[in-house]
Amino acid sequence: MRKSFDLYFASSNKNKYSEAREILSKFQIHLGFFEFAPIEIQSSSILEIATQKSLDAYLSCKRPVIVEDDGLLIPSLGGFPGPYSSYVFKTIGNAGILNLVKSKRAAEFHSVIAYCDGKKPVLFQGITRGVISKKQRGDGWGYDPIFIPGGKTKTYAELDDKNTISHRYKALGKFARWFDMQKSSGR
Ligand code: IMP
Repeated sequence: MRKSFDLYFASSNKNKYSEAREILSKFQIHLGFFEFAPIEIQSSSILEIATQKSLDAYLSCKRPVIVEDDGLLIPSLGGFPGPYSSYVFKTIGNAGILNLVKSKRAAEFHSVIAYCDGKKPVLFQGITRGVISKKQRGDGWGYDPIFIPGGKTKTYAELDDKNTISHRYKALGKFARWFDMQKSSGR
């Protein structure tokens, strides 16, 4: 018989969900999708944005839920686009970022996973450091074609093992270990 979902991933982004589902399945956590288009608060902190999003998602979903907020940070651009990554992707896109980044190409991808089951949200953060590529490579979604994680020569879009090294994997790994402890302590 099909096992019911352990919890839901509330998002409008199916790419994030399919990666999250694959990552959490390695931890034996069965993740459902809850279609949700949040009204994002204006904040310079992705932790704050994720916290509010998880509270709103729980009000709609009414079941244990996680949401994710991400940011691509480029230190030579003062951390831009950071909390504005989604807007910047929709406006100037990868081509615009490539035009802005000159010689200092270091970049970081941050993920914040916020879990809410009606009580105070619990947050988990994952960071993958790397560099911005010189041109777009591969067919991935979002910033995947321009982000090369540390220790690799390929972009996220070209890698087969993105889901074992990504910012999302690191945040979800922390969440999975915590979630498992909650379950075994009967909470
Ligand atoms: P959001 O505000 O959490 O949706 O994410 C900020 C921006 O980063 C959006 O444009 C996402 O598409 C993009 N993004 C988040 N995670 C990834 C990823 O793993 N690869 C590529 N782009 C991503």
